[in-house]
Amino acid sequence: MERSLSLELVRVTEAAAVASGRLMGLGKNDEADEAATVAMRQVFDTIPMRGTVVIGEGEIDDAPMLYIGEKLGLGYLPEVDIAVDPLEGTNLVAKGMWNALSVVAISERGGLLHAPDMYMQKIAVGPKAVGKIDIDAPIETNLQAVAKAVGKDMNDLVVVLLDRPRHQGLIDEIRKAGSRIKLISDGDVAGAIYTCFEHTGVDMLLGIGGAPEGVLSAAALKCLGGELQGRLLPKNEEQHQRCVRMGLKDPNQVLYMEDLVKGKDAIFAATGVTDGELLRGVRYQGTQAKTHSVVMRAKTGTIRFIEATHRLEKKPNLVL
Ligand code: FBP
Repeated sequence: MERSLSLELVRVTEAAAVASGRLMGLGKNDEADEAATVAMRQVFDTIPMRGTVVIGEGEIDDAPMLYIGEKLGLGYLPEVDIAVDPLEGTNLVAKGMWNALSVVAISERGGLLHAPDMYMQKIAVGPKAVGKIDIDAPIETNLQAVAKAVGKDMNDLVVVLLDRPRHQGLIDEIRKAGSRIKLISDGDVAGAIYTCFEHTGVDMLLGIGGAPEGVLSAAALKCLGGELQGRLLPKNEEQHQRCVRMGLKDPNQVLYMEDLVKGKDAIFAATGVTDGELLRGVRYQGTQAKTHSVVMRAKTGTIRFIEATHRLEKKPNLVL
């Protein structure tokens, strides 16, 4: 893939963040998501690539834009697979809470698991604990292995989880093992990324979240040298058959990094919509908007943080 695509992808997430960040705290979940989607879609169509959405806003019948299978880009090579979440954490924006992001990942064609809209069980760690986790092992065994790998005592270890009733058993086990917990109300892509940045204090992500978010997280962790293991959790026969149709002989199989994001290369970009541990949210003043983004590439391992000032009077549609 062309390295210049990295910067192009940041333009995409910046536009989505600027469009949706305006609605911070207004309680307008759907409007914020739509604003991000429209802005992202517009910028995608200015990028020299032939892209296919494999993880998007929904199936063609349900989503007018960024639907699964939609072709994006100016139509020239390279041919890429695209995973988007124009607004990861719609509730977070609606309530003005931490860590809403706009995120995108691309890979060579066929590189991203076409994860349908269902739940996925996840375990994720940063670079020091790669190869030490096993999604099927008891929680305490994983905690001990990660603690050893990162050089911490069990009671210093921090696990991030979505704050959901379905995680109560997991929370009880982590507490019993003596480790610490950070509950987040939404946004487990950010949660997975935390594990790769020491300043967040987070060592591990556990729990059940969206499958599309699982693939996006895996793309980020591939660039950052971390690891995510997942398992799709089809809740009925229809979802089970959906997994079979996408090529999984056993929908309950463990999905490793290579199953989630194949090949050597992937590019991941994110822009903060609201403030978070990793990225600041969008700041608006008059006709200016300031954004804070990260873009990273698996092949080279380069991680770039980008601050940008946008002159909105010069690009009213957020496209230049
Ligand atoms: P949305 O932005 O689509 O609302 O997703 C936010 C999120 O918290 C994801 O980060 C997470 O994977 C998923 O929702 C969890 O789903 P649920 O809210 O059903 O537990």
